[in-house]
Order: sequence, then structure tokens, then C-alpha cells
Amino acid sequence: MTSGDISGAVELQRAAFPPPFSEDLHWGAEHLARHIEVFPEGQWVAVCDGYIVGSCSNCIISESLWQAHGSWASTVGGPFLEKHSLDGTTLYGLDITVHPGFRKQGIGRAFYSKRFGYVRSNNLTRYGTGCRIPDYISSGVATQEEYCQLVAVGEMNDRTMTPLLRMGLCYQGVIHAYMTDGESGNAAAMLEWLP
Ligand SMILES: CC(C)(COP(=O)(O)OP(=O)(O)OC[C@H]1O[C@@H](n2cnc3c(N)ncnc32)[C@H](O)[C@@H]1OP(=O)(O)O)[C@@H](O)C(=O)NCCC(=O)NCCS
Repeated sequence: MTSGDISGAVELQRAAFPPPFSEDLHWGAEHLARHIEVFPEGQWVAVCDGYIVGSCSNCIISESLWQAHGSWASTVGGPFLEKHSLDGTTLYGLDITVHPGFRKQGIGRAFYSKRFGYVRSNNLTRYGTGCRIPDYISSGVATQEEYCQLVAVGEMNDRTMTPLLRMGLCYQGVIHAYMTDGESGNAAAMLEWLP
């Protein structure tokens, strides 16, 4: 991602995270500009015919922040990534977004291949992230723990967690009060990949 891609990436957020996901949680141009400033090699886009059809944002966090398994905001230091540190151990996935019209064509997997490649070539300990579980509330399953376990063993499908598991991530547990996300009951599935 370069500064010329920012307006297309902001537009993509609107297409990919429609209500009930809160617009307040979309990246603004000022956030993406800051990401490019602090960690340019960790911000990527997918482009088709000049249009941004995918985006992928990352930062690096310390081992203690990863082990704390805290909220999104406390882990990365908010949308301006105040906790990003090149001395950390963990490439942390902030966002992966593919335009609805371009899904299931391998763009998400290509971004994950870049994430894993970055971990390997920079000798980091892991890739980790907190993953939305947007089909949890509508599933009727009683707890997020039970739901994530069912998704992890392939007995239920979640439109976000299932693809990330197929890309090679491993389920580690539930983080409650991760971010304001009604469909996920404000929780996230903690996912990890080790090189
Ligand atoms: C999750 C997301 C990034 C996946 O991107 P994508 O480009 O469609 O993924 P790919 O085409 O690379 O698919 C990777 C694997 O996931 C599977 N997959 C994709 N969408 C799926 C779905 N809805 N349900 C089950 N499996 C799915 C694919 O079949 C593929 O598996 P396979 O190669 O083993 O057959 C995309 O759906 C998206 O942008 N969602 C909205 C934004 C979002 O929620 N981001 C994550 C925030 S934590």
C-alpha cells in the first residue's frame, strides 16, 4: 500500500464491512497514512484493473502484549498503532479485507502467504491475530467458547474464522471484550501460526 492507494482502501472498508459492523471501526485515511509511515513493509493491497479489491494491515507487537491476550485497542495501541515495535516477536494481523465481488478467488490466501513469508524472513516467533466470529450470535450456540470449538473442528462454518483456519491458522481460545462487534458478541477467536 502506498499513499495513492489510501482512498481506494477506505472505500473498500465500506463495501466489505457493511452495517451492523460499526462504521466507527473502519480505517480512516489518517489511520492508513500513519500505518504506511510506521510500518510500510507491513501494509498491502490487491489491485484489479486499477481498483483496490483487497487490503491487509499488520503491525509487530511484543511477546508480553501477545501473551496478555487483551482487547484489540490495548494490544495494538488503537488505530494509530502506538504499540507497534520492530523489536517485537509477533506479526499481528490488524485487518484483512477482500471486496465481496472478489472473494473465494485466493486473494485472502495470497495475503496470508505474505504474512507467513514476513514472519519467516524476519525470524519472528509467530503470526497472531484476533479473528471476528460474525456468525456466532445468529448460530444460537450458547457460548463463544463452544461456538469456536465447533468451528475449529469443522462442525460449524463461520464466514471469517473458517477461511482463516483453512489458510493455516490454529485456534488458541476466545478473547472477550475484544472490540465492539455485535455479530461476534464483542469477542474474537485468538488464532496463531508458528513458522
Ligand atoms: C475472510 C476473507 C478475507 C477471505 O478472503 P478470500 O479472498 O475470500 O479467501 P480465499 O479465496 O483465499 O479462500 C481461502 C480459503 O477459505 C475458504 N473460504 C473462503 N470464504 C469462505 C467462507 N465464507 N466459508 C468457508 N470457507 C471459506 C476458501 O474456500 C479457501 O479454502 P480452500 O483453499 O482450502 O478451498 C474475506 O471473506 C473477507 O474479506 N471477509 C470480510 C472481512 C473480514 O471479516 N475480515 C477479517 C476480519 S478478522
